[in-house]
Formats: sequence, C-alpha cells, structure tokens
Amino acid sequence: MKIPPSFLLLSIASLTSIREIAAQCYDYTDALDLNARIPTSCKLVDKIEIPTPPTKAPAESSKFIIDYKCEIQTNQDLCARAQRSIQKVCEILTENLSLRKNINVDVSLKDLCPTDAQQSCNELGGAGFARTMELLDDDDIIREYPTALVKQFDCDQHYEFGDVDIRAVFNGGNATSLWFEGDPQITSDQIDFRRLVLKKFINALGVKTSWIEQPIFDKVSPTILTPQLTLSQENGGDFEFKGFKEYAYDKYIIFRGKELQSIHDAAKSLDEFVKEPDVKFKDQEEFIAQLVKSPQIEAAQRMANVSVNPFTLGFLPRGAKSDDDVIVLETSFNPYQNDVSMNNFDASIYADTEDFLMVSTLTSGKTLEDSMGKFLSPLGPRLISLLETLGYPTKKLPENDFKTNTEVILTKTTYVVTEIKTVSKSVVTVIEIVTGPPPQQTLPPTNNNPSQDDDNNDVIDNFGQDIFNSSSFNIQNNLTLMFIALVCCILGSLNTI
Ligand SMILES: *[C@@H]1O[C@H](CO)[C@@H](O)[C@H](O)[C@H]1NC(C)=O
Ligand SMILES: *[C@@H]1O[C@H](CO)[C@@H](O)[C@H](O)[C@H]1NC(C)=O
Ligand SMILES: *[C@@H]1O[C@H](CO)[C@@H](O)[C@H](O)[C@H]1NC(C)=O
Ligand SMILES: *[C@@H]1O[C@H](CO)[C@@H](O)[C@H](O)[C@H]1NC(C)=O
Ligand SMILES: *[C@@H]1O[C@H](CO)[C@@H](O)[C@H](O)[C@H]1NC(C)=O
Repeated sequence: MKIPPSFLLLSIASLTSIREIAAQCYDYTDALDLNARIPTSCKLVDKIEIPTPPTKAPAESSKFIIDYKCEIQTNQDLCARAQRSIQKVCEILTENLSLRKNINVDVSLKDLCPTDAQQSCNELGGAGFARTMELLDDDDIIREYPTALVKQFDCDQHYEFGDVDIRAVFNGGNATSLWFEGDPQITSDQIDFRRLVLKKFINALGVKTSWIEQPIFDKVSPTILTPQLTLSQENGGDFEFKGFKEYAYDKYIIFRGKELQSIHDAAKSLDEFVKEPDVKFKDQEEFIAQLVKSPQIEAAQRMANVSVNPFTLGFLPRGAKSDDDVIVLETSFNPYQNDVSMNNFDASIYADTEDFLMVSTLTSGKTLEDSMGKFLSPLGPRLISLLETLGYPTKKLPENDFKTNTEVILTKTTYVVTEIKTVSKSVVTVIEIVTGPPPQQTLPPTNNNPSQDDDNNDVIDNFGQDIFNSSSFNIQNNLTLMFIALVCCILGSLNTI
C-alpha cells in the first residue's frame, strides 16, 4: 500500500509537536569484534557541496583518507614499511573504484600477540565498518548499510556519517611473519602485508555478512545462524528485542540449487519473531527460550546447516543471467567461522582464477605479484561485479548511479518497517519522527534559515514546512506517536554503461 506523499505531507504538517528526526545507526567500535555494536540515533543532514575549484585541473577522484597509528614504538622501520603497504592498497582500490566521496580509514598497527611468550602468535588483525545505517531496501527489508557505501550513493540528504568509515587493526607483534615490498625473497611462512590489508579493506567496504553465530546462542542446539541482533537492556531492567538486521551484502546471497532462491525468506521469517512493539523479556535466557520455541527458529537452523555445506550459497551479481554468473561463496568450514564463512569465495573454484584474492586462505610464501601472475589487477572481475552490485561505482561502471530523489512518505505505526512499499529499484532511508513535549510550546518564527556554511542539521526544508526548531533536536523518550518518514534515494538505470 502506497500512501500519496502529498496527503502525508499534509498530515505531517498538522502535527505540531514533532521534534526529532533521526535514523537508527550502529557504531562498530572494535575492528576485530563484530559484536561491539552500539545502536545510536543519527540525524538527517543535507549533502555538503564542495565548491569546485576555479582551476581547470582535472577533477580529482575521491580517495581513502588514512589515519594511521603505529603503536610498535620499538620498530619504526616496521611502522614505515606497513604504512607504505597500506598506501599501496588504497591506490589499488582507488584505481579500480571510482569513488565519489572520500572514505576515512582509521588504521593501527599494534602488538596483538598473547602476553605469554610461550603461546604462538598467529593473529593477523582485521578491519570492519565503523558505522552502518538502516536503509529500507526495495524488497521491504531494512538492512544495515556501511557509511563507506552510502557515501557513494551521493544522496542529497543522508544520515550523519561518523568521522571514520572503516576501522582496521593489524598485528605488528610478529614482524617476521609479514613480508613488505622491497624485502628479500618471501619465505614460505610469510604473508604479503598488502594482501592482508587489501583483503580486509574489501570486507570493510561491505563484503561482509551479518549472518553469524552469535555468542548469546552458544548453548542453543542444533546451532543457529542469525543476522545481527539488537537486544537492548534499559537501566538494568527488561531486555527489549529490536530485531535481526541484515547487511547490504546479504541482499544478494542466494541458496544454490535447481532454482536460485534468495535467503531473504530466512531473514524475513526471522523478522516475524515477535512483531509487536515493546517486546520485552525478563532476561536473555527468556529471550532465547522464546526464540527456540518459535516457528522462526527453523529458518535460523536452516541457515546454520547450509552455511557449513560446500557450494550451497552464492552471491548473485546484478545482471546475472544464469547459475554460471553466480559467485559461489565459501561455506565449507564446519563449524561455521564468523567473518570467514560466506565472506569469501569458494577456494576450490576460484583459488587459481583472477579472483584468487577472495578465497579465505591468506596464501603465504607468495607476494601479490606472484599470485597475480599475468593477471592485470589483484581485483578479479567477479569481485568488481560484486562491488558494483553493492553500489560502488567502479572504473568499469563509473555511472553506477544511485540518483537521489527526496520524497517524504509517512505512515502511522508503532513499529518501524511493516507495510511500506517503496519505489522499486530504490534504497530508502527510514526516519523515526518522535513526538515532542506537549503542544503548548510556542513555535519559533519561520524565517530562521541557518546559513549554509556547515554540516547543518536543518530538517525544515525536507518537509517544506516550518514547524521544527532546527536547533533543538532533543531525543524524547515518550513515543506516544511514532511516524516513519522515508527519504528515497532512487537508483538510476544500471543498464546504461
Ligand atoms: C586496478 O588496479 C590495478 C593496480 O593498481 C591496475 O593495474 C588496474 O589497471 C586497475 N584496473 C582497472 C580496471 O582500473
Ligand atoms: C610468527 O608467525 C609465524 C608464521 O605465521 C609463526 O610460525 C611463528 O610461530 C610466529 N611467532 C611466534 C612467536 O608466535
Ligand atoms: C542439513 O541438511 C541436509 C540436507 O538438507 C540434511 O540431510 C541434514 O540432516 C541437515 N543437517 C542438520 C544438522 O540439520
Ligand atoms: C529555537 O532555536 C533558537 C536558536 O536558533 C533558540 O534560541 C530558541 O530558544 C529555540 N526555540 C525553541 C522553542 O526551542
Ligand atoms: C507521555 O505519554 C503518556 C501516554 O502514553 C502521556 O500520558 C504523557 O502525558 C506523555 N508525556 C509527555 C511529556 O508528553
């Protein structure tokens, strides 16, 4: 059911107490732990236009901005060599992608070895997104999109990005296990540091599934796999279930078989678990017990089952015509390995192809160039098509265009998500508008358009009305009325290459 926007604009205009427009974002605070995830509300802001410089210099494409910290004070040489490798990786990525907005990366090199010197040190490190934001996809599922990707959509309005898009931590504690450009011949137990960084950065760009074995379900048998879970506890009281959320990448994952079938159904089914607002549980055990008893548990068990059987899951690139175009994902590890399974390509198929980079084992004893052989780029054609499918503009497809068209749609509901049909081929942002204090408060005069100088949080223009005081977005906890506004960001035609 689609409600005409004009009607909805009217209905919102008559609401005088709306104070807050914020979307659900998640901050990921630890590059090595997908569970270090904090829900945070983020405001809608207008795109900042960067004035075009008067010179006729060719427009420089956007790039990765690296904030690098080396915490191995005793080995400055290592610090410098690692830095050069990271720069090289960013060059490879920028040469192959056609970024519209800079991506800010926070990288540190640390000693991640166990303090007990007796224990071996095989930790390599990793990278992940620093912030995601919920967007309602054209298949009616709200997914978490990493900011690095949302930036490339280039919407006129978007939710606040953080200072950092990607967080990475690498281990410099076992320096002899790493090989750097310019070093002598690589030894059989050394890993080319560029390969490691490139691989992890690609995951952090969004080649990452939300389907993991959550620590909270450790004791559930048979094993279950679920998307990211938000279970929040308020002031030591009840636990509130706020849903299972997939990532952008998961939209394109399919069950392989006679017929290609998307895993949406599994995600949708899990989403059915307790739909009402305020789904509260006394404690985590009660939540787990309820989930295990629910009909939804089957979908989670099925995912756990297929994800440990080889060749069962694939990534469907946009424009795929047959099963041959499907990228077979790594599902041969049993038990499932969070962060490895499903995030890589099947090694038995792709290890010797141009897409060698995307297999799970970080080949040691071979430099990136050794592995490339006569291939022209470390990024294979399947990986490029995957990144294009996610929405990254690339050298091959610079017009991978998520055109923006801001439209406000409102629906009165107590729980986000339901019943909203969106424009097909669109990515839609969900905003919650929370009611403010009682309406006796006088409204401010209308012509207080703030100057355009900076990141303004002025939402007045979005709705073509003046009822908001843009400088007073206080989060109100009283959700007597909750409205959802959707800002669409419509995908341009992808057929025009
Ligand atoms: C990708 O990057 C590599 C390494 O920098 C470069 O050799 C190659 O030409 C690039 N490929 C494309 C399609 O731009
Ligand atoms: C350092 O890494 C190498 C190669 O992975 C490994 O063989 C070695 O045991 C590690 N060193 C320590 C002290 O753990
Ligand atoms: C997984 O699925 C296969 C095939 O559908 C089935 O034979 C097997 O019993 C399942 N395993 C578990 C643990 O459910
Ligand atoms: C509206 O914002 C202005 C500052 O721009 C502030 O002085 C004023 O108190 C605010 N009014 C209300 C009703 O919050
Ligand atoms: C909050 O909501 C309740 C009803 O749910 C209402 O009685 C109360 O007045 C509201 N408080 C404020 C500050 O709006």
